[in-house]
Amino acid sequence: DESKIGVKGLVDSGLTAIPRFFIHPPETLSDLKPKRKPESVVIPTIDLSGPRSVVVEQVACASRSFGFFQIVNHGIPVEVLDRTIGSVKAFHEHPTDVKARFYRRDTGTGVSFFSNIDLFHSKAASWRDTLQIKLGPTLAEVSEIPEVCRNAAVEWNTETKALGERLMGLLSEGLGLDTDRIKNTTCLEARVMVGHYYPCCPQPDLTIGVASHTDPGALTVLLQDHIGGLQIKHEGEWVDVKPVPGALVINVADVLRIMSNDEYKSVEHRVLANPSHEPRISIAVFFNASAREDLYGPFPELTSPEKPALYRQFTYNDYLRRFFTKALEDKTVTNYY
Ligand code: SIN
Ligand code: FE2
Repeated sequence: DESKIGVKGLVDSGLTAIPRFFIHPPETLSDLKPKRKPESVVIPTIDLSGPRSVVVEQVACASRSFGFFQIVNHGIPVEVLDRTIGSVKAFHEHPTDVKARFYRRDTGTGVSFFSNIDLFHSKAASWRDTLQIKLGPTLAEVSEIPEVCRNAAVEWNTETKALGERLMGLLSEGLGLDTDRIKNTTCLEARVMVGHYYPCCPQPDLTIGVASHTDPGALTVLLQDHIGGLQIKHEGEWVDVKPVPGALVINVADVLRIMSNDEYKSVEHRVLANPSHEPRISIAVFFNASAREDLYGPFPELTSPEKPALYRQFTYNDYLRRFFTKALEDKTVTNYY
């Protein structure tokens, strides 16, 4: 048998105890168990087909209190959602040699498959594999995208770009700004799609699917299947983002939080290791800045002598450098500006 790759490869080889480098430190593990009934807090689900003023208010309210919300009646047909999940699942379930062609540590390329990359400076590896595809400002070379998810990635790119613009309009108006104010900062142009595969974990109490983090970009659109495991930190407690059929999960990321001068929250979230007997699939699209020498900071319209800017201006290059170097230690990026 050929060597297997990724966390799925470990599971397929039949292991029953997880390798030591996946075991997270006691402070992370003791925090995995819920401290109160998870049903007591529910992340809002917003019907995007409602009257615009109502939707703007709901989006703004959810972004101020939770930094997360789900959307339904968003206009993306359920067949497209199913196709996207199905194609990412199919990629991860390909034979090792097909996946190995995309395996690289350098995630700066158009397409990469990886496992255990320590993006968030966690102290141990995570129980998941990831396929990453660059969507914008220009889509990865189509011939480079794994064939099994090529059409789905092209389709998901079109759908999420339009949806992201629409959400930015709502979020802009929610701050009392012109509809295009956020969009015009170019913070939507660089888009990355990540297709996560969370294999069943034999010891889910010892590891994690994605360690706690906030997203570094402006906004994230997430499609998750029915398994669950995503949690956000709300008022000091971990709250489940329960799968809602046909819904997409939206979250404010650090750059938008900064531009809103902390009116909107970018909230810590994590994914538990998958205890079920089925793999979990999720697909995130990150909306990031592309004009990397442009200055970002709180919108001047939102600051006043009473509400001074909470951050200085910075370039996205500098920001990413801080995010991806150990200089950050245990702080989040927003502590640095
Ligand atoms: C992430 O936040 O990076 C992953 C979210 C998910 O898989 O649900
Ligand atoms: Fe995230």
